[in-house]
Amino acid sequence: MTSTLSRLVKGALRGRWSAPIDPLLRQVALRSTALISRGRSSPLARDTLGHFPPGPLLLGHRGAKARAPENTLGAFQAALDDGGHGVELDVTLSGDSVPMVLHDDTLDRTTDVFGKPSDFDADELGELDAASWFGAWPRPEGIPRLEDVLRAMPDGAVVNVELKGPSPAWVGLERRVVDVIRAHGARMHIIVSSFHPAQLLEVRRLAPRIPIGVLLWPEALLPLRTAWAVPLLGADAVHPPSSLVDQTFVNAAHAAGLRVHVWNVADLNDARRLLNLGVDALIVDDVAAHAPLFGRAR
Ligand code: G3P
Ligand code: MG
Repeated sequence: MTSTLSRLVKGALRGRWSAPIDPLLRQVALRSTALISRGRSSPLARDTLGHFPPGPLLLGHRGAKARAPENTLGAFQAALDDGGHGVELDVTLSGDSVPMVLHDDTLDRTTDVFGKPSDFDADELGELDAASWFGAWPRPEGIPRLEDVLRAMPDGAVVNVELKGPSPAWVGLERRVVDVIRAHGARMHIIVSSFHPAQLLEVRRLAPRIPIGVLLWPEALLPLRTAWAVPLLGADAVHPPSSLVDQTFVNAAHAAGLRVHVWNVADLNDARRLLNLGVDALIVDDVAAHAPLFGRAR
């Protein structure tokens, strides 16, 4: 640990963060899961362990991001059509405080306007062109409300709702999202994830039976705090990038009653490696390419 810290400081001085943080984050994550193994998890978290369908799950990252405009209704349908058990999506707030499905802080990359989502109300965001930036796509797509996506999902679908922020513009995001999930999420398997422990703490406070997953990220200092939060929150899952996951990580998480939902899967070989390790979900851009590994090719 000491040598890792030393590398961390040196890396920071040189402006290179990711290399030294990767092993340090793994240490923190493992120690956090060990804490839960000692009985510090929330009983409420354990109540949710039967919440998910059996077997490893295939989730489309922002929908079927590789072949559809991300975080649109069309992308989510494409992920299901391609054999996914469900989808991962990102949620932010419109100017009139409606949970909207959008990844970036701004509209610049994925729509036909510049600005922030908080500059527009939900109806206006729904009217934007959220597809043309992607290229060929057969139908118009706006920025959907979270409610629209949940209404469109079939019974039994798995939906990973990632909270974006926190930001002063998005105060109240957690409560608004919980309200939508309560109203429209009963037919499916939902888990709320975030890189930010404070957001997950608020979700747990508002709705203790909604599963929560702590996102880990090796390329910033923040994950050092999010990993600490795993036992404190009594989280149901950890959401690490593939680079953090080996057999020790999976065993420690499972021993602590935590599911392992992996994102940033590099390629099919990496996916096979992760499935052999026993992870519980892969969150991938190209759902169709991964579906055969799950026996779900369409
Ligand atoms: O939830 C996994 C992944 O979506 C986290 O990163 O930036 O793609 O939302 P990002
Ligand atoms: Mg995301």
